[in-house]
Amino acid sequence: MKIRRLTVIGVGLIGGSLARALRAAGVVDEVVGCGRSAANLDQAVSLGIIDRYSHDVGEAVQGADMVFVAVPLGAMRDTFAAMQGKLAPDAIITDGGSAKASVVADALAAFGELPARFVPGHPIAGTEKNGAAAAFAELYHDRRVILTPLATSDPDATTRVRAMWEACGAEVSEMSVEHHDEVLAATSHLPHMLAFGLVDALARMKENDEIFRYAAGGFRDFTRIASSNPVMWRDICVANKTALSKMLAAFAEEMADLADTIARGDAEHLLEVFERAKSARDRFVDGGGK
Ligand SMILES: NC(=O)c1ccc[n+]([C@@H]2O[C@H](COP(=O)([O-])OP(=O)(O)OC[C@H]3O[C@@H](n4cnc5c(N)ncnc54)[C@H](OP(=O)(O)O)[C@@H]3O)[C@@H](O)[C@H]2O)c1
Repeated sequence: MKIRRLTVIGVGLIGGSLARALRAAGVVDEVVGCGRSAANLDQAVSLGIIDRYSHDVGEAVQGADMVFVAVPLGAMRDTFAAMQGKLAPDAIITDGGSAKASVVADALAAFGELPARFVPGHPIAGTEKNGAAAAFAELYHDRRVILTPLATSDPDATTRVRAMWEACGAEVSEMSVEHHDEVLAATSHLPHMLAFGLVDALARMKENDEIFRYAAGGFRDFTRIASSNPVMWRDICVANKTALSKMLAAFAEEMADLADTIARGDAEHLLEVFERAKSARDRFVDGGGK
């Protein structure tokens, strides 16, 4: 696989890391960046992530055979609209947005129809850092990338997007847009809500200084993701509100049950819940425990 000109719109953690990984793999000739802040883009040039940039989306996508959109979900629609009529005939458009139904709706609204060379995607990788300075070439090594090709997607475009991610060391799978949004609501969006909700609740308690002074170990691990970009997460919640609301309601029931079990002092049931959770985590998350 070879990319002649890659345009990255939103040269942050996700977009910048893709550019770095493709450069490291030697599969891209030129990388053009696009974004609002000159400081971030100048830094991306000096770090060797991009070769040049434009603040104008229409100008940045000119002549590109691969366009990767990695702006927050709330900026997708305007970004697509700005590239309308400016794309090369062979240009493939893909994205890294954390929810997929909203991105597809935005593309439809912006282009008037779904472009044949549009293949939505989502790398299941990230950190709580953002901006070009946070980007690194290994981010996608051995990580999963989900593509959600549409009925309108040209199979050749899907093959090229798959090859692009594989060149970054990722394992690519495909699923429907709806299934993606349900799975990610459960595995990523819900845990982020728990972290944000927990830290916010504690921070608003009177004794918060005292509480945070003694926070360590488990609290630090569990709440690391509450340091993630608030704008990005606001957009994800709005974009995936149906699936996420369903997950939150189911989880609230689980918590109410747990509270009830604790209030009853039902030690046997507590042990049953914790053992079930431990064995599921050991099996699925750590592949045998740690
Ligand atoms: N972080 C993760 O863990 C993760 C994982 C998977 C997918 N994603 C998805 O990847 C996308 C990018 O996330 P990220 O973590 O890379 O964020 P990021 O580091 O903040 O990068 C986003 C970039 O988009 C640009 N941008 C922000 N608002 C914009 C706007 N209104 N119009 C145009 N450009 C704008 C920013 O540059 P300027 O401010 O200069 O415009 C910034 O460089 C999001 O859609 C997110 O859902 C994130």
